[in-house]
Amino acid sequence: MKQAALASLFTFLLHAATGNAQVVGSPSGFAAGTTGGGDAEPQTPSSLDELVSWITDSTPRTILIDREWNFIGTEGTTTGQCCSTRTTTCEGGTSAGQASIQGTCDDGTWISCTYDNAGKSPLEVGSNKSIVGVGSAGVLRGKGLRLRDGANNVIIQNIHITELNPQYVWGGDAITLDGSDNVWIDHNKFSLAGRQFIVSGWGKAGHVTISNNEFDGVTEWSAGCNGKHYWTLLLIGEEDWYTFSGNWIHDVSGRAPHLGTDYTDSKILFHGVNNYFQDVGGHAFDVDTNTYVLLEGNYFDGVDTPITDTSLSSGALIYDTPTVDAAGACTASLGYICEWNRLSASGSWPELTEQAVLNEFALVSDSLVDHYGVADVPATVVANAGVGKI
Ligand SMILES: *[C@@H]1O[C@H](CO)[C@@H](O)[C@H](O)[C@H]1NC(C)=O
Repeated sequence: MKQAALASLFTFLLHAATGNAQVVGSPSGFAAGTTGGGDAEPQTPSSLDELVSWITDSTPRTILIDREWNFIGTEGTTTGQCCSTRTTTCEGGTSAGQASIQGTCDDGTWISCTYDNAGKSPLEVGSNKSIVGVGSAGVLRGKGLRLRDGANNVIIQNIHITELNPQYVWGGDAITLDGSDNVWIDHNKFSLAGRQFIVSGWGKAGHVTISNNEFDGVTEWSAGCNGKHYWTLLLIGEEDWYTFSGNWIHDVSGRAPHLGTDYTDSKILFHGVNNYFQDVGGHAFDVDTNTYVLLEGNYFDGVDTPITDTSLSSGALIYDTPTVDAAGACTASLGYICEWNRLSASGSWPELTEQAVLNEFALVSDSLVDHYGVADVPATVVANAGVGKI
């Protein structure tokens, strides 16, 4: 804490002296060592074309996002048929639903729809990039980011990605990891996506730290029919190590997160630490097979279903630190006492203490980030997560 305060004071003084912004801090956890654009002189694009070319080229860069870049309308719109199902019509629901932009509609009816093309085609991020917001000004509206085909060493910090055809499933993902490695996603905000805020797969996402982000699910179009975004995080890459810490996940209704798949021969490690799950009108963790999941120091506040029932029979390996004893039992494998998870006005927290999880994490114990006391999570995370907080 003290170190962090000093670091941000230093950064503030640096900015005051140079008038420049840049990456603040460095990643801990699985993406440790990620440097993004490294020493590249921070550059501020002056046009949408320049922004696109700098993000997608193969030159190491520190790209400052000092304004809202609005992509909506820049690639035209498509009018066609979308599939409407019960999660579109939302009978008895408290909000409108989402129709799906897709080619088949076996269990629904076709309706006419118009969507923005830019939201469906993310920018392909090159290697060795830092994409950094300035103050609280950095917004990508109507376009997401995709890291694939070996994209390596990327930092995305302090930007808000929003308005990706939120009325339509498949309208757009905010961040896609598919054949990437060494990615730090820090202090961003995600809202109003058509599909996932963060998605990986089927290729590998690699070593990823997702820290201090705000996942804001408030929407008028919810596949959960309750004004809360359903498609939060879908992490199903081939060979992935996720550190997920300090995030604020609120007003969502599903996949917060979904982990794992039997579709590929994947292996996913997920260390979830000190996250604040608030007002989840649906499920938080939905865990499929091929996963090792260590959860400690997370706070669930008004979460209907903290872990789905199917997670218990999917073959998922989960250590969810339900008791003081379970916290202490970490010591033999990890060398420290885990922090237990806390629930308030939430559904049940099954006792899952799979030793295989501790054995697996023992092999990567250098990459396990520290926790703090779970009682402090709501206040600390709300004060720190999202844009304009660094
Ligand atoms: C990224 O940086 C690394 C280390 O300097 C270098 O080996 C690699 O070629 C760079 N990638 C690109 C696409 O420039």
